[in-house]
Amino acid sequence: MAEAYSLQQYIEDLRQIVADTDDENEIFERLAPLAGKLVAEPSWLQSKHYESDSEQGFGVHLLHEESDHSLTILVVNWLPGRGTPPHDHGTWAVVAGIEGVEHNQRYARVDDGSRDDYAELELKKSFDASPGEVICIRTGGIHKVSNETDGLTLSLHTYGRHVNYTNRSQFDLASNERKAFKVSVE
Ligand SMILES: [Fe+2]
Repeated sequence: MAEAYSLQQYIEDLRQIVADTDDENEIFERLAPLAGKLVAEPSWLQSKHYESDSEQGFGVHLLHEESDHSLTILVVNWLPGRGTPPHDHGTWAVVAGIEGVEHNQRYARVDDGSRDDYAELELKKSFDASPGEVICIRTGGIHKVSNETDGLTLSLHTYGRHVNYTNRSQFDLASNERKAFKVSVE
């Protein structure tokens, strides 16, 4: 039997892809199938990756980060009924489902962008992502993730830069407030 695709091999492939190109379409084209392969046989997954954070509604576990905070790989789990506010990432993102169905909503910013603390969003698309499915979000893309199931959901997130080291935002749909978005990472 062939050996499972390892986390170390994924990290090496990721480094090679970004060394070859900074075109996000090309990064997605090459990286998405590899992220799908990595979650297909998750021998690297550990029981601690199921530990969540009831305060923020999700648990974030670091698998890899380059020393300059670029190329970051996280396992993120969502508690039932919980999720994120709409947010961007300040970098590109590739998300591959591991367990459970995660509900995604994609938004577009429709104001003129003239104010740092204000943003009007318009819902563009809602969809469910199942285990094995891979979602690619360009720099500046805005989405909201929620777990509408009865169990914990888990996904693998790969970013061009650690999201606590980018200038990224969360958005309040009711007040149109835009503010910084940092997450607690284990
Ligand atoms: Fe996100």
